[in-house]
Amino acid sequence: MLTSKRILLIIGGGIAAFKSLDLIRRLRDQGATVVPVLTRAAEEFVTPLSASALSAEKVYRDLFDLTDEAEMGHIELSRDADLLVVAPATADLMAKMSAGLANDLASTLLLATDKPVMIVPAMNVRMWEHPATQRNLAQLQADGIAVIGPDEGPMACGEFGPGRMAEVPEIVTAVTAALTDGPLKGKHIIVTSGPTHEPIDPVRYIANRSSGRQGAAIAAALRDLGADVTYVSGPAEVPPPAGVTVHMIETAREMLSAVKTALPADAAVFAAAVADWHVENASDSKIKKTIGGMPALEFAENPDILKTVSMLHDGRPDLVVGFAAETDDVIANATAKRARKGCDWILANDVSPETGIMGGSENKVSLVTSDGVEDWPRMGKDETARQLALRIAKALGI
Ligand code: CTP
Repeated sequence: MLTSKRILLIIGGGIAAFKSLDLIRRLRDQGATVVPVLTRAAEEFVTPLSASALSAEKVYRDLFDLTDEAEMGHIELSRDADLLVVAPATADLMAKMSAGLANDLASTLLLATDKPVMIVPAMNVRMWEHPATQRNLAQLQADGIAVIGPDEGPMACGEFGPGRMAEVPEIVTAVTAALTDGPLKGKHIIVTSGPTHEPIDPVRYIANRSSGRQGAAIAAALRDLGADVTYVSGPAEVPPPAGVTVHMIETAREMLSAVKTALPADAAVFAAAVADWHVENASDSKIKKTIGGMPALEFAENPDILKTVSMLHDGRPDLVVGFAAETDDVIANATAKRARKGCDWILANDVSPETGIMGGSENKVSLVTSDGVEDWPRMGKDETARQLALRIAKALGI
């Protein structure tokens, strides 16, 4: 609930502005006070009267409105709120924020505030993908601004792709998470990530192409919802996120032992690309070339960490989530894998080289649960992680 929380809702000028009227209602349903600010462009899409009727508050529009200054100055207005939400955040507003411009009421409030800011971008797909917008986005994220969405889908302009404003329930969940202690506060969640390295000898090993990007993003998203995260990672390309308990390991056997040590947990997400085998006759010294001979490597199966934890009688986490990285028959294989491993959910993804997913920054997953299969759109690994974290929060009954 958002009782006694005050939200300054800055509505930018885009076709998605109509959703912001519904957002006002839904936030008020949660007990929040919502004070709307309309940019001049926003007034082309929604009227101040509808924003004020739905919020039951005065609507702020103009920086140089002297009455407003007498009642409440823009500095005070920007700090009186618990959270500033910009929805829709247009490409123009994002650019102004990123550059630190203050040439209208909305941008001035955003520059003057000392409160957390959340933006909900909405724009044409080309505008979203433009390097300038992506640069501004990276700057805003580096400045600590929370970004919700955008979603992918058909757009009002007739094009298809990322750029649609996130749906209202998703925004309300994100606002609630930002303004409360976090729905996962007090929950312990284990996340495995990255590849494993299985030694052949002291200088050589067997590995795979996992970057650890998805696992790191999941750990960060769970942390952001307040969870106490234990992150067990193989030698990944991306560093572990801040604010989580880190166990760096190399082999699958070490990963299992670190996971067992970290138990009990309320949930566990197995995002690591674990090697299925290790070299049983790995050498303690460097294997030398011998004329005419090849080294004979003998393989032994690695422990299946996901299956081991899923099948625990005592101390099984309430929710166990695995991944199924497949190149063929993705859903059929993932569904079979879910049954075989005994986990609750499987996130299935197609890692054929042409998808660019393995090692890339985007993911396209299907969530396989006991209720069936849900296809999620292709999106950034951070966004996939956030969606998953929100689903985990819901599944843990929060
Ligand atoms: N996994 C694990 N321990 C292993 C192998 C896999 O915990 N030894 C987990 C992965 O982290 C992932 C899930 O199991 O969540 C599926 O991994 P994947 O490599 O797709 O499946 P495999 O068990 O290797 O099955 P297959 O080789 O048949 O694809």
